[in-house]
Amino acid sequence: MQLTVKIQRFDPEKDSAPHWESYQVEADPMDRALDLLHYIKWHVDGSLTFRKSCAHGICGSDAMQINGENKLACSVLVQGLAKDGGTISFAPLPAAPVIKDLVIDQERFFDKYRAVMPWLITDDPAPEKERLQSPEQHAVIEEATKCILCGACTHACPSTWADPDYLGPAAMLKAYRYVFDSRDSEAEERLKVVDSKDGLWKCYTIFNCVQSCPKGIDVTRWLSALKRKAVTTRY
Ligand code: SF4
Ligand code: FES
Repeated sequence: MQLTVKIQRFDPEKDSAPHWESYQVEADPMDRALDLLHYIKWHVDGSLTFRKSCAHGICGSDAMQINGENKLACSVLVQGLAKDGGTISFAPLPAAPVIKDLVIDQERFFDKYRAVMPWLITDDPAPEKERLQSPEQHAVIEEATKCILCGACTHACPSTWADPDYLGPAAMLKAYRYVFDSRDSEAEERLKVVDSKDGLWKCYTIFNCVQSCPKGIDVTRWLSALKRKAVTTRY
């Protein structure tokens, strides 16, 4: 099939603003969106810049806007994006500074992630082997542990677009993951971070995060549980 691939390009050494460029590509319906970018980089314009690593939906590094929606380029097929003769567009994730072409500066995203203390904190003495959890205890946090930190959710959220300081769904999902972890003892400290003017209460349950999450995580559901925990905890 013949496709027009439109890519938002930006080279900080040459361009004052991003602009669109179009490429004609012959593709197979079963190609991934990432294959189109590889084709252009390897055969048309080697300066095209994008992030990717695993190419299997694991590392989260190739989240970008494809046909206007935040997706992993390695996890969507051409046949679901365009018909023969159609157009597929690529742009960087919105609401973040662009470093070059499809690569955004993730510093702010990871600052927010670190703010919720995304590691296990406990005063219990170290056990001889691992810290155990029952299947029931793990079920409470299991879905949240599947997050690959791609940022598709946070950059799909209107609250992020409106307020760069908003913690965003990815960081707060991580807070949920530890607040509800049966082995952790710092739930209150994390709740203080998310129960703030830049935190939970700027989540207006718009569900863009759920729609954009490539791992199918029901982010809004877990943030709602975190809200309930915040209003029922005294600290
Ligand atoms: Fe990506 Fe989903 Fe994690 Fe958000 S919750 S960072 S969309 S994997
Ligand atoms: Fe790793 Fe797409 S390249 S998730």
